[in-house]
Amino acid sequence: MNKVLRTAGLTVAVALLVFGATRFANVSSAATSPDGQAIFAARCATCHQANGQGAGPFPPLAGNADVTASDTSNIIGIVLNGKTGPITINGKQYSGAMPAWRGQLSDAEIAAVLTYVRSAWTNKAAAVSADQVASAGHPAMLPGATIYAAKCATCHQANGTGTDAYPPLAGNPAVSAADPKEIVAIIVNGRSGPLTVGGKTYNGTMPTWKGQLSNPDIAAVATYIRSAWGNNASGVTEQQVASAGTSVSTAIGQSIYAQKCASCHRANGAGGGPFPALAGNANVNASSPNAVIGTIEHGRNIMPSWKGQLSNADIAAVTTYIRSAWGNKGGPVSEADVTAVK
Ligand code: HEC
Ligand code: HEC
Ligand code: HEC
Repeated sequence: MNKVLRTAGLTVAVALLVFGATRFANVSSAATSPDGQAIFAARCATCHQANGQGAGPFPPLAGNADVTASDTSNIIGIVLNGKTGPITINGKQYSGAMPAWRGQLSDAEIAAVLTYVRSAWTNKAAAVSADQVASAGHPAMLPGATIYAAKCATCHQANGTGTDAYPPLAGNPAVSAADPKEIVAIIVNGRSGPLTVGGKTYNGTMPTWKGQLSNPDIAAVATYIRSAWGNNASGVTEQQVASAGTSVSTAIGQSIYAQKCASCHRANGAGGGPFPALAGNANVNASSPNAVIGTIEHGRNIMPSWKGQLSNADIAAVTTYIRSAWGNKGGPVSEADVTAVK
């Protein structure tokens, strides 16, 4: 008995030692994380050039809004999976083949080289983490039920019934709607403000999962909540998540407008006094959004400048909103459109 206990004790001690050593090894390997600049020189510069300007069929990465976009899932996907076919960058069309690096570079190396290209030359964008590469690179690594348990159940409860503060997802008609676009947009972008479900009004904040869950993972968890607990709606595909784009942008834009713009231009866009109407305004509806973007970025007379106060993505969202609300019919505006207006 005594011997068994002591053996068990020894095993635990050995296990702790091994565990400690492994952790130590992890810490020291993090200290020597891969050198993005060296990887770029060795693997990418032959095509994209050391100065990031590209050449011939190889597009520039310097001064390229796709590369510095705040949502990194697109460029992570291109580096992992390669890309062929036409792509327009800064008004010029390219149609070459970008090789796939999946399996040739580790997640940490891809994160390091992307962090480098997002901060080299004149580029200035946030770093990419190995976790972001991992979640984009292993589509729906986790089944929807597992994602739900890890990320959603604290608020919406394991059985989907919610609480007084968090709306139910079980038996919720919005969750089971034939077109999943609205709920996908909410999962991607979060939501705050009053929301009525089954006659009860909630007024909390649903976090945004953009950049934290990959599109396949969002598709998996959305499919799960539409089929669990007696819900019986169709699955959600990765393409549906990707195409939630414009309506997504409009939803964010609407909330920015309510907070930052409606005090002058009014909630219904009709303006009043010195504040011009945005509804039915020819400048706002112009086929090129550039002039309107310029006014929002730089202000004009007593119209405030929003540069530095709103991100480019937020300016794109609010511009998309004012171009589509109140009967306006201007097209959507992308973050790249905003970045291009100086
Ligand atoms: C053999 C040449 C070649 C190499 C090597 C190469 N690329 Fe590319 N890359 C391309 C081409 C060509 C495209 C455009 C693809 C298209 O036309 O669809 C591209 C596109 C891209 C894009 C997307 C740009 C955009 O605006 O969407 C990124 C990001 C990128 N490459 C990063 C890298 C990184 C990082 C490396 C090194 C790990 C690398 N490339 C190595 C040829 C190359
Ligand atoms: C921190 C708490 C919290 C977490 C975690 C959370 N939610 Fe929410 N969720 C909310 C709140 C609060 C609302 C209501 C927002 C409002 O009042 O506008 C909401 C709303 C929703 C809605 C919209 C329901 C409707 O009737 O339109 C969906 C769908 C949803 N959440 C799904 C999810 C999924 C899927 C996850 C996990 C990936 C998740 N939520 C994680 C708090 C949370
Ligand atoms: C403090 C009041 C105020 C706020 C807040 C405000 N604006 Fe303005 N805005 C104005 C005024 C005044 C003008 C007209 C400027 C002029 O006379 O040159 C204007 C002009 C504009 C125009 C140009 C219209 C045209 O005909 O060219 C747009 C577009 C616009 N605002 C959008 C916005 C957006 C989007 C927001 C929120 C992010 C916002 N404004 C917030 C006061 C405001």
